[in-house]
Amino acid sequence: MKRSSLLRPLQPFIPTAFIAALAITGCLVAGLAVAQAGGDAPRQPAAVQADQLFLDTFHRGDYAHLQQALEAETAAYLRNPQDAQTAAHVGWLHMWRAAERNRLEHTPPSITDDLVLARKYFARASALDPADARFRGFLASAMLAEAQLDRDDALRQQGMAVMQQAVKDWPAFNLFTAGYVASNQPADSEGFRQALELQWQDLEVCAHTRLDRHGTDLDRFSQAMRGASAGTRDARACLNSAMAPHNEEGFMLNMGDMLTKSGDWQTATKIYALAQRSPDYAQWPYREVLEQRIRDAQANVVAFNAPGVPGQKPANPIMLGSAFSCTGCHQR
Ligand code: HEC
Repeated sequence: MKRSSLLRPLQPFIPTAFIAALAITGCLVAGLAVAQAGGDAPRQPAAVQADQLFLDTFHRGDYAHLQQALEAETAAYLRNPQDAQTAAHVGWLHMWRAAERNRLEHTPPSITDDLVLARKYFARASALDPADARFRGFLASAMLAEAQLDRDDALRQQGMAVMQQAVKDWPAFNLFTAGYVASNQPADSEGFRQALELQWQDLEVCAHTRLDRHGTDLDRFSQAMRGASAGTRDARACLNSAMAPHNEEGFMLNMGDMLTKSGDWQTATKIYALAQRSPDYAQWPYREVLEQRIRDAQANVVAFNAPGVPGQKPANPIMLGSAFSCTGCHQR
């Protein structure tokens, strides 16, 4: 971890340094406190067990048992609030519950509290481990979601600034994040147009190539992406992995939905079809959804733009509002 290696030379002197730092800035204090709490110390067994339970539950798409995993991760956090990964996992569980609320028969208004808690835990995780750009991307998402709920423009701008940094830190991962959270904006808004543009840019980053925005040159795309990102850090963001076993399919499903929503259902069908090029497509639990999307692309232009009715579940939401807004990529 970068943060601790930076501070490692100071470690023997931490007690003095710590006291001196107290007098200087709160920021430095926070950094030293982290190093003091263990740096690369092994994670506690409770944290490792909680992760196991969370990831099993998540990869099964077992939303009904989310609460048990949340209790285990929260307990692990309370034992060791310096563990960035544990803090992030608590944040992700709150995000999952809020994001896939469409699974619930009735969505209580207080489901929005999960977004507030997600913000708290991702803020904590990215303070503890600023080198992990995924934490920052999810922190920004939570801030933007909360700003939307509160109609708080100042918070929205802060969220945008954090997101910009997150995209800079790891474009292949956070271009997706930035565009995905904004996909619920009206199709004719500038925010939505930009969000869709970010998905194109993500594909370009993953494949090291330029693409025209009508999908005329997608034939070699999947091969180019595999060639360009295999063996690099971007493989984790661009390709399928143990952590995100259907990342490619889920990415294309969302991007196809966004294109459909924009009105360009013809290009959407080409992007949806890229999901079928994934080596794991046959095992993807949501392939029926994708095939239905291809058949209904033209009709979905209207469906995906239907105005939401407060208190009512949308009948045919885009991926972000669906019951598989996380598990579309993460379910085995
Ligand atoms: C387009 C596909 C996609 C979607 C949708 C998606 N993720 Fe991910 N997720 C990924 C990828 C790719 C990674 C990076 C894996 C890595 O770092 O190796 C990731 C990483 C994660 C991790 C990292 C776990 C760890 O300990 O390293 C968690 C947890 C997670 N996502 C939760 C979520 C949640 C919750 C949602 C819904 C709000 C979500 N994801 C939506 C693709 C996706």
